[in-house]
Amino acid sequence: RYKIEVAGKSLPVLTNLDKGRYGVIVFENLDKYLNMDKWNRELLDKYCREYSVGIVGFVSPSEETLVGAQLRDFPLFVNTNLRLRDASLNPSSSVLRLTRAGETAWGALPGDDWAVFQHNHSTYEPVEWAQRNTQEYPADSVGQVQLPLTTVLQDRGQLDGIQRVLFGSSLRFWLHRLVFLDALSYLSHGQLSLNLERMILVDIDDIFVGEKGTRLRPDDVRALIATQKNIAAMVPGFRFNLGFSGKYYHHGTREENLGDDFLLQNVQEFNWFSHMWKHQQPHLYDNLTLLMAEMHLNYAFAVDHNIPTDSGYSISPHHSGVYPAHELLYLAWKKVWNVKVTSTEEYPHLRPARLRRGFIHRNIMVLPRQTCGLFTHTMYIDRYPGGRDKLDESIQGGELFQTIVYNPINIFMTHMSNYGSDRLALYTFQSVIKFLQCWTNLRLASAPPVQLAEMYFRLHPEEVDPVWGNPCDDVRHKKIWSKTKNCDSLPKFLVIGPQKTGTTALYTFLSMHGSVASNIASPETFEEVQFFNGNNYYRGLDWYMDFFPLETMPNTSSPMPTQLGSPRFMFEKSATYFDGEAVPKRTHALLPHAKIVTILISPAKRAYSWYQHQRSHGDVIANNYSFYQVITASDSAPRALKDLRNRCLNPGKYAQHLEHWLAYYPAQQLHIIDGEQLRLNPIDVMNELQRFLKIQPLLDYSNHLRYDVKKGFYCQAVSEKRNKCLGKSKGRQYPTMDERSAKLLQRYYLNHNTALVKLLKKLGSRPIPQWLKDDLSTGT
Ligand code: A3P
Repeated sequence: RYKIEVAGKSLPVLTNLDKGRYGVIVFENLDKYLNMDKWNRELLDKYCREYSVGIVGFVSPSEETLVGAQLRDFPLFVNTNLRLRDASLNPSSSVLRLTRAGETAWGALPGDDWAVFQHNHSTYEPVEWAQRNTQEYPADSVGQVQLPLTTVLQDRGQLDGIQRVLFGSSLRFWLHRLVFLDALSYLSHGQLSLNLERMILVDIDDIFVGEKGTRLRPDDVRALIATQKNIAAMVPGFRFNLGFSGKYYHHGTREENLGDDFLLQNVQEFNWFSHMWKHQQPHLYDNLTLLMAEMHLNYAFAVDHNIPTDSGYSISPHHSGVYPAHELLYLAWKKVWNVKVTSTEEYPHLRPARLRRGFIHRNIMVLPRQTCGLFTHTMYIDRYPGGRDKLDESIQGGELFQTIVYNPINIFMTHMSNYGSDRLALYTFQSVIKFLQCWTNLRLASAPPVQLAEMYFRLHPEEVDPVWGNPCDDVRHKKIWSKTKNCDSLPKFLVIGPQKTGTTALYTFLSMHGSVASNIASPETFEEVQFFNGNNYYRGLDWYMDFFPLETMPNTSSPMPTQLGSPRFMFEKSATYFDGEAVPKRTHALLPHAKIVTILISPAKRAYSWYQHQRSHGDVIANNYSFYQVITASDSAPRALKDLRNRCLNPGKYAQHLEHWLAYYPAQQLHIIDGEQLRLNPIDVMNELQRFLKIQPLLDYSNHLRYDVKKGFYCQAVSEKRNKCLGKSKGRQYPTMDERSAKLLQRYYLNHNTALVKLLKKLGSRPIPQWLKDDLSTGT
């Protein structure tokens, strides 16, 4: 979770060495450090000394084999391109913190390009040693006792005041990954440290679900209880967490049915949670009553068999319904089981596993789940994919081991079938825990899911808010997602505002086009959905998609957005999106390919129009204070007045907001409309917009828009004589802005307007609007 900055390829890039910016400097290739030009090297060394920043360096492989070669400027010598074996750690090294000097890691070390360090100065202290691989060099070993060779070395900085940790090989060797974490922690004086607590929860899903011949027999249950005891001795609080589907109780062989009974006789030995009654995907239930009825059946089964019902945890088969979130599942879970926690591997995506995150939706905490390499059909060690060695590799420093090292809270999913047959899961967890105890100082523990979830979101408060991704961008998500949903109905472009720039006019003009359609109107916010900015976002994607209904086209079974002929260009206009802090990130997660349309007018004029709008909507503050009083309200003014001032002035800081959008969307997806042109010359504006959006067929707006003298604006020409204009709330009559306010706002927006000119120039091929030139010329 640390932010890592990588210097450009053309190292050295040392222009950013400001105070406190870096905790540690890492050289993936030590040569780059040693061979730096003098000027940069001095700069870097000075920085390291002054701010007590250490250096990590890896000797990288090279064709040339060095024997006793001196490292430039250091009393240190290396031999390279060696094959080594049997690594062990120096128990008295002060670098080790998370890593524990355990047993020797016996056997050949990966790679044939190891470097070892020879040193003869008290500033150097070995961290790791290894031996020459004598099996491969038998001539070396005849009658000789091998001396350990230093493969990781600490430089205490006695010579030049800079502390370093040097690695003779890459992170390919599992132990180096641990030592590297410790090197970061040590050299950054604890700034880059992981804490040492690790929580482990092992779910056993599909209890009773397994096919005949794959289920637990009484002996397996005995082994489960015994191993649980052993693990609990190493991991305080550890209990297997059993997820049951009562429907399949007693569906095994005679012996397996006895196993079911034995499990229930020992019900109090374990933690329990509800899986589904039927092991099918809840997206098949698009009916809340049906979904709840199924859950009630499992509940009744639990009560009949003394299975506790208050764990607050549940799991959905195949992750379905959890993410992408199926609202009915969340609702039913709450109502029937009072579920507080669930877990999934799918948020935001299955891969890469290290980026899995959690979120909270409808008060249900969704925790990221990790993979342990055991799946429903992994039952026999000799049939483990890749063989026993593969499983052992994962346990002994490999993937499973590293997963626990990196994640403070680990939730693993296993299945009942992993505990029958060869009892692979028992072997796996017991072994990995022993290995962790041998090689790390991690403090392992376990707790029930609700406690883990609370702990998780205390550690990661930034994850509480979900970010809804596009289910169609991930094949797995698309498969999991409700079959009634279809990404074709999602908007292809967004009109983001800001408010009072002519967004309603644009919305109306667009809606006149037969190939363009907008969401159905929201009863709460009139036509606007306002999904991505406020609390509506927490209602979830299903809620949003209900604004874009699909209809079955005549003579075809394929659902298409409401339209005769080709699918319409769906769009959504919510004018508050423009300056919504979280909006670009959220829209980009769901609609990364959408085009973004914004309208700009003079920010001063916009602020004034907005103020008038608030007044006529009966806003008490706007009616009690003059425009000048609002825009000059100080920070000590009453809160409501300050809020009004901010909402009046902030959207007009155009450059700042546009930069925010451009951090997520490429410039080619952004279309900026000059709002004055939209008012005075909407026909050209609409033509240009159609071209930008690639809307087919092009509608000639000169046949559909007409200037209405009475309204003073362009309106829709509905017949030869009749125009349909926007309502009286658009194009209002109000006195012109007072001189004092106008002057003040010109000054206020001066820097923002200057930044806007710069931005428009940078974006290229976008004319500078006349109002912007005017605002700037009178503002100076
Ligand atoms: P005023 O009412 O202050 O004049 P929005 O729809 O984003 O709230 O913007 C309203 C503004 O759109 C109006 O502000 C008006 O100036 C402008 N506008 C642009 N073209 C228009 C049109 N054809 N009809 C009505 N208003 C239009």
